[in-house]
Amino acid sequence: MTDIFHYKDGVLFAEEVSLAAIAETVGTPAYVYAAKGMCDQLAALQDAFAGQRMMICYAIKANSNIAVVKTLANQGAGAEIVSGGELQKALAAGVPGTMIMFAGVAKSRDEMAMALDAGIAQFNVESVPELIALSEVAAAKKTKAPVAIRINPDVAADTHEKISTGRRQDKFGIAYDQAGEVYAMASSLAGIEPIGVHLHIGSQIMSLAPFETAYQRGADLVRELRAQGIPIKRLDLGGGMGVRYRGDVRLDIAAYADLVQTITGDLDVELLLEPGRYLVAEAGTMLAKVRYMKQGDERPFAILDAGMNDLIRPALYDAYHEILPVKEAAPNAELQATDVVGPICESSDIFARGRALPPLEPEDLVAFLGAGAYGAVMASDYNARPLAAEVLVDGDRFSVVRPRIEPALRFADERIPEWLETPPVECGRAC
Ligand code: LLP
Repeated sequence: MTDIFHYKDGVLFAEEVSLAAIAETVGTPAYVYAAKGMCDQLAALQDAFAGQRMMICYAIKANSNIAVVKTLANQGAGAEIVSGGELQKALAAGVPGTMIMFAGVAKSRDEMAMALDAGIAQFNVESVPELIALSEVAAAKKTKAPVAIRINPDVAADTHEKISTGRRQDKFGIAYDQAGEVYAMASSLAGIEPIGVHLHIGSQIMSLAPFETAYQRGADLVRELRAQGIPIKRLDLGGGMGVRYRGDVRLDIAAYADLVQTITGDLDVELLLEPGRYLVAEAGTMLAKVRYMKQGDERPFAILDAGMNDLIRPALYDAYHEILPVKEAAPNAELQATDVVGPICESSDIFARGRALPPLEPEDLVAFLGAGAYGAVMASDYNARPLAAEVLVDGDRFSVVRPRIEPALRFADERIPEWLETPPVECGRAC
C-alpha cells in the first residue's frame, strides 16, 4: 500500500497521477481514491481466505461513492448496507441483490420492503420488535426474509470508545444469553427464515484477542442452535479489521484468517465478512491547500481550506492522519512543530497539534493519508461550505466521481414561508 501514494520528481502521486495535477483540475479540498489500493486490499483478504466458502460484503458506509463501490464489486465484493439509501447506492453500483446484506438497528418497514424486493442475501436483525416488523413485511409479500440475528458477545474491542460496539452496554445486537430464545421465536414466525449468526464488535481493531473471544462465542452459538434444530448455514463475523494510520502497525490479515479458520473450520458454514475501513482507508487521501500561515503563541498555525466538515475524524475520535506536503520537502528541511487547523468557527476544528512538518507556505498543498474510509461520507456542509470533490485514480488516469457541490445547490431546496416574504426592515424591530 505504501507505494500507492509516493513521491515522483518531487511531487506526491496517487498511483501514476500527480496530486498537484488533480488539485489544479478539481480544486481543493478534494478526496482522491486509488483503485489499485482498494483492489489490493480486497485481493489480500480474498487470498487469505482462499478455499473458504465465503462472501465479502464491503461495508459501504466507509465510502459509498458508487464508483468506489463498483470498483470493489467488479472484483467480487458484495455490499453491507445500513439504510434504504445505501441499498439504492449498492444497486446503482451494480452489486447484485444476492450479494447485499442489510444491517442496522432501526430499519423501517419501507426499507425492509425495498430490500426484500431486491432479493437481498440476508437481513441482520438486532431486536425482537425489528424481527416482528420484518416478519409482518415479508409475510405480507408472501415471502421469507433470510435472517441472521446480531449477537452482542459482550467483548471490549480494545479500540476508541466511540467505535466499540460489542459490549453488553452497547446498543447493538441481542444479548448472548437471550440468543437461544430469540432464535426459537424467529423460527416460529411467518416470513422469517433464520439462516445465520452475526456479530460485529467494533472498528479499527488492531489485535486478534477480541476477535478470538467474540468468534468463539459465535461458533459456540452456531453449534447450540443446530442442536436446537435450527439449521444455521452462515456465520457473519462483521468487519473491524484495523488499518495503518501511523507507524507501521496493521492487523495481520493472514493471522486473522488463520484464527477464523481455527475457530470455524469444523463448522461447515459459509462465512460472511463486512470490512469497510480495511478495503478503502489507506487507498484514499484528502487534498487541502494552505490558505494562511499565522504565528501562534507557541507554534505556527497552518490554516487550511479543508475543515472538520470535510474530515471529521480528528475532531470526533481524536484520530491521527498522516499529513504529507504534496511538494516533497528538501532532504535537509528542518521540521517544525505546526498546528494544522481548518477554517470552521469551532475550536475542535483541528487536524493536528504540534505536528512535525516541513515549513509550509500559503498555497502549498497537503495530503491527509488514510482518508479513504469515513472521510467524504461523514462530511457536512456546516458553515455553508461546499462538499469536497471526489476523484478516482486508476493507473495513469483519473476521473471526477463526484464534483464539488457548491452551497447554492445545497440550499436550493430551502424555502422561505410566505409570511416571511415581507422585505426586511432596515433598522429597529418589526416583530
Ligand atoms: N459491520 C457493521 C455492522 C458496522 O457497524 C461497521 C461499522 C462495519 C461492518 C464496518 O466496520 P469497519 O470494517 O469499517 O471497521 N466512523 C468511524 C467508524 C464507524 C464504524 C461504524 N460501523 C471512524 O471513522 O472511525
